[in-house]
Amino acid sequence: MKTQVAIIGAGPSGLLLGQLLANAGIDNVILERRSADYVLGRIRAGVLEQGTVDLLREAGVSDNLDARGLIHTGFDIAFAGERVRIDLPELADGKHVTVYGQTEVTRDLMNAREGIGATTWYEADNVQPHAIDTDAPYVTFEHAGHEYRLDCAYIAGCDGSHGVSRGCIPADRLKIFERKYPLGWLGVMADTPPVADELIYATHERGFALCSMRSPTRSRYYIQVADTESPDNWSDDEFWAELKRRLPQNVADTLVTGDSIDKSVAPLSSSVTEPMQHGRLILLGDAAHIVPPTGAKGLNLAIADVNTAYRLFRRIYDDSRADLIARYSATCLSRIWKTERFSWWMTTNLHKFSATEDFDTRIQQAELGYYLNSKAGRTTIAENYVGLPFAKLEP
Ligand code: APR
Ligand code: PHB
Repeated sequence: MKTQVAIIGAGPSGLLLGQLLANAGIDNVILERRSADYVLGRIRAGVLEQGTVDLLREAGVSDNLDARGLIHTGFDIAFAGERVRIDLPELADGKHVTVYGQTEVTRDLMNAREGIGATTWYEADNVQPHAIDTDAPYVTFEHAGHEYRLDCAYIAGCDGSHGVSRGCIPADRLKIFERKYPLGWLGVMADTPPVADELIYATHERGFALCSMRSPTRSRYYIQVADTESPDNWSDDEFWAELKRRLPQNVADTLVTGDSIDKSVAPLSSSVTEPMQHGRLILLGDAAHIVPPTGAKGLNLAIADVNTAYRLFRRIYDDSRADLIARYSATCLSRIWKTERFSWWMTTNLHKFSATEDFDTRIQQAELGYYLNSKAGRTTIAENYVGLPFAKLEP
């Protein structure tokens, strides 16, 4: 088998890159370890930056998003007994975000790919890139007991944080920068009307809580727990009771509870892999970087890499600029580190880290109080929340 770009992983990064390339006449094949249903069973965040929405539109996969995505022009941070609204258009140059689940983005992309008849191998085992520092790389894999070889010109590693691609960068070049937090988020999805029209990020002495949503009839709530916590330790009633304790009273009073349709714990961590390119291999999305969910940047960061990778492949195939691949890593990383900073800042300042009042907790209160009561502070939060401009491959 032969293609131009071999894409490893059918998450949002791999699927969107594949769609954009196919639309531009650049042949690609996706190799995914899991089944399509398994990929669609993963529940992830649901806040899309304008740049993400624009790229999905450019790929021609935004019909459902345009019909059902919820435009959000602000969100609240509950802190010290007050609810401070971050007005996005006012503070961030008219911009807003769109609430639309990652699962739905993935489903739309899978349907679009099926529609154009592009090749995806689901349940591909032992996917392995080879010869990435030559002009003739290839990927081997197994499917239903048979071995296959896919020859290609480039390999896009879109295989998430547990993928095989990152490890193909020689160890003496590879550097991984990490921050672990002793925290997890216990998340519940429920078919109940959201408690408010906009998201509420709530600080509380018992720990952080977040009220989010997927639609006018589906809510998504989270509470901070220890990273070692198991969802099995929490009945629905216990979850709702703890959530209510952490929310402002008037919010808790109007919260509609119901049966959970999903309950899971996600650990919080930050990491960045450098470089994001070696020879004919590039890394995109979670394969290269992880952010904690505070601020909902994971999917948006992945889509920003897709934007850079797509522009790169267009320049390579339309204008014979194979040399530009050397700029891929630095272009992506300049924006990634700023978004890592914002996710780290939101995580550090909205969660409870210490059981006792100490110097750090006082500084945390001062930091949040300063930012939320200053227009400059709120502007910084808003600018990052709506998404920083995409970085350009060429000046
Ligand atoms: N071979 C083939 N496929 C693989 C392999 C492998 N060795 N390892 C992992 N995969 C697949 C996974 O099964 C998954 O479907 O790669 C895909 C990676 O998808 P995501 O983890 O969704 O990563 P990405 O597409 O970069 O999307 C980033 O997802 O994790 C969230 O917060 C993150 O929202 C962000 C988004
Ligand atoms: C979500 O809806 O799942 C969500 C929203 C905002 C976040 C994180 C997760 O910051």
